[in-house]
Amino acid sequence: TDIEKGTYPHFMLKEIDEQPFVIRKIIQEYQDENDDIKLDADIRNAMKECDRIYIIAAGTSYHAGLLGKQFIEKLANIPVEVHVASEFSYNMPLLSEKPLFVYISQSGETADSRSVLVQTKELGHPALTITNVPGSTLSREADYTLHLHAGPEIAVASTKAYTAQMAVLAILAVDTARAKGIELDFDPMQELGIVANAMEALTDQKEELEDLAREYLPVTRNCFFIGRGIDFYVGLEGSLKLKEISYIQAEGFAGGELKHGTIALIEEGTPVVALATQENVNYSIRGNVQEVEARGANSMIISMKGLDKEGDAFVIPHVHEILTPLVSVVPLQLISYYAALHRDCDVDKPRNLAKSVTVE
Ligand code: AGP
Repeated sequence: TDIEKGTYPHFMLKEIDEQPFVIRKIIQEYQDENDDIKLDADIRNAMKECDRIYIIAAGTSYHAGLLGKQFIEKLANIPVEVHVASEFSYNMPLLSEKPLFVYISQSGETADSRSVLVQTKELGHPALTITNVPGSTLSREADYTLHLHAGPEIAVASTKAYTAQMAVLAILAVDTARAKGIELDFDPMQELGIVANAMEALTDQKEELEDLAREYLPVTRNCFFIGRGIDFYVGLEGSLKLKEISYIQAEGFAGGELKHGTIALIEEGTPVVALATQENVNYSIRGNVQEVEARGANSMIISMKGLDKEGDAFVIPHVHEILTPLVSVVPLQLISYYAALHRDCDVDKPRNLAKSVTVE
């Protein structure tokens, strides 16, 4: 069945490998016979009618939300705010006239997100839940649901749900753009098909990624992830993956922020993972790498084909610039997996963590 490990030593590795199939499944589920986007008309209307979107989520789903904001703002031209669920009620923003709340949750059971949903429903605002579990609390209590179709995710560290969330958000953004009459030079299904192939190629490069984990993360206490633009958000997710399963203290931050503090922590041999998948920041992020290397860092550049330079540790295949997060996260997931494995950590069930956090 779906929830057996089969020949895999861990669910996490199995779920990483499933990602290309999940993306293809999403393409299939969200496409009609005329190759148009298949989406509930009520959701389309809610997206079209709102004047601002408030994304609410926690952990990895929050990281997907940060990228969802990019997709929706860039493609559909609607302002988006992304909020950590547990902070929302203390720091509740001033709401626009016609807000739409979007809850992103793999499990659909995260208590922090649910309490915001209860609050915003009381205020009378419409809610859309994007989840992997259609019958879940967040799905039942929202007005609308979009299904991730990722299949059960068992490992505590989320992998395929994250990439599925981004794929669905990208499709939703394009659908909204079309509904609003915005002309786009971007075919989401075709581009996601290219993403699925790229992911598949990466899952065949496990040995190389295991070697990188061995080379860069052997006995280290900490590790930093840097990126600019959307690479910054992928770095946040990479650092969360690494810390939760390998217990290496990991921090993701914007390349430009280095000089404002974190560079003080760079010592001889400190691992720094830098993402370079965006043309407009390729020069600047490489400048940041030189800065940390000059202070002794052991830096690993993960770049994208076409933007790569000699000496880069790992190069992902070329995909549409806006969809790079779905692909660049895969080597980060695998490096985290191997780092945890080499440290004899309980990969699927890291200490102190639960798969879904049902307490506030
Ligand atoms: C992911 O690796 C984490 N274990 C965690 O951050 C998770 O994403 C978070 O608890 C949110 O869960 P949800 O998507 O089920 O709401």
